[in-house]
Amino acid sequence: MKFANDFLFGAATASYQVEGAWDQDGKGPTNWDEFVKIPGKTFEGTNGDIAIDHYNRYKEDIKLMAEMGLESYRFSISWARILPTGTGEINQKGIDFYNNLIDECLKYGIVPFVTLYHWDLPLPLEKAGAWLNKETGDAYVEYAKICFNAFGDRVKHFITFNETVVFASLGYMSGAHPPGIQNDPKKYFDVTHNVFYAHARTIIEYKKLKQYGEIGLSHVFCPAYGVDDSEENIFAAMHANQYNMNWFYDPILKGEYPEYVVKQLEASGLLPNWTDAELKTIKQAAPLNDFMGLNYYQPMRVEKINGEVEKVEITRENSTGSPGNPSFDHVYKSVKMADKKYTKWDWEISPEGFVSGLVMLKEHYGQIKFYITENGLGDEDVIINGDILDTPRIDFINDHLCAVREAIKQGVHVKGYYAWSAIDLLSWLNGYKKQYGFIYVDHANDLARKKKASFHWFKEVIETRGESLKD
Ligand code: GAL
Repeated sequence: MKFANDFLFGAATASYQVEGAWDQDGKGPTNWDEFVKIPGKTFEGTNGDIAIDHYNRYKEDIKLMAEMGLESYRFSISWARILPTGTGEINQKGIDFYNNLIDECLKYGIVPFVTLYHWDLPLPLEKAGAWLNKETGDAYVEYAKICFNAFGDRVKHFITFNETVVFASLGYMSGAHPPGIQNDPKKYFDVTHNVFYAHARTIIEYKKLKQYGEIGLSHVFCPAYGVDDSEENIFAAMHANQYNMNWFYDPILKGEYPEYVVKQLEASGLLPNWTDAELKTIKQAAPLNDFMGLNYYQPMRVEKINGEVEKVEITRENSTGSPGNPSFDHVYKSVKMADKKYTKWDWEISPEGFVSGLVMLKEHYGQIKFYITENGLGDEDVIINGDILDTPRIDFINDHLCAVREAIKQGVHVKGYYAWSAIDLLSWLNGYKKQYGFIYVDHANDLARKKKASFHWFKEVIETRGESLKD
């Protein structure tokens, strides 16, 4: 089966992870510019001051993407380039940069797919309470409108937020991301709601402009499965999905929060500080949402906790996706299973879990339009005589694209696939060691770009619309 002609084959990046130029041309500092400078926060103290210098080398990078045959490039806008302090005066040079980037994509017929918020928040807003402060949401809506007005004539696909669960949980539960707060579920839930409210207002504003494009948001897609079919572990999986999936997807797609979670949060005093008017706006906005972006890396295997909870100390390594941690309410824990395959960073490799998860989503939410906005393998690539032989990445993407094709066969409405990432980039916490790209960046040689084996492989997949994939 070929992928339909209007299915977009793309690849993604995020501003902080590629741009560098952290204070160039009037850009203001962000939460990440500050956080990474705190000793011990990132692997070997790496930061995005220069990253892979995409800001200055975007022409070269887009040219390579075009050569690979990419049909679409998902990138994010750094708010602090447009509004250096988060609000107020527009920095024209920031607008110019994204105009140039967009035009460069269009020159090659590459569809720009734009994320408005991929975690880098202007520092003054961070200092004023970040997403806990409802004024951040007000500022965000204004920023988004500026972007629609500046870029919306050419950009027809907007993502409001990337992975709320990650910046909320790593920011306020594990403390691995800014602002580095640990074990504060009240704040965590407040942040999620403030973001969903900002999302709702933003899509309402977008639709008013009649730009006739589409808008949605991207969530982590990490379906939970019980480690076995026992009743208690089936319950554990249901509970995990309610908290990690429904809590995030329902307000966007159905316009309301899942009752199961709401009741429990009410009982434990963790319900967000929401108002009726905010809830009404969320309800009003739900039907305006055009798609949901899914970032799939792995499923989660869960086991019910009975009795004592082992204390797992939070470290940088275990706070970003590897199994072993108890849920915040101590109902279940995620488990590494002997019969599953894992990456070097202990993320499970499971195309099967992807198919069943997508089918589960369709059953729960109906015919929603999905884009896979991220999927890929973090690895330390093998280099032999200068050739980057990233065969495990080829296998990974092959198997996950086959999974997407299978899900489409089973009636799931998926309209595009964006590999993470287009090019090797800065991993938020793991430096440059963890590679994801089709294009290698040589940090020992002036950031020179080089095509990997996967570059040529992906080109053929796109050219044949998936016929070259191996089942
Ligand atoms: C996602 C995130 C990306 C990238 C990826 C791989 O959570 O959106 O920015 O870091 O994980 O680690």
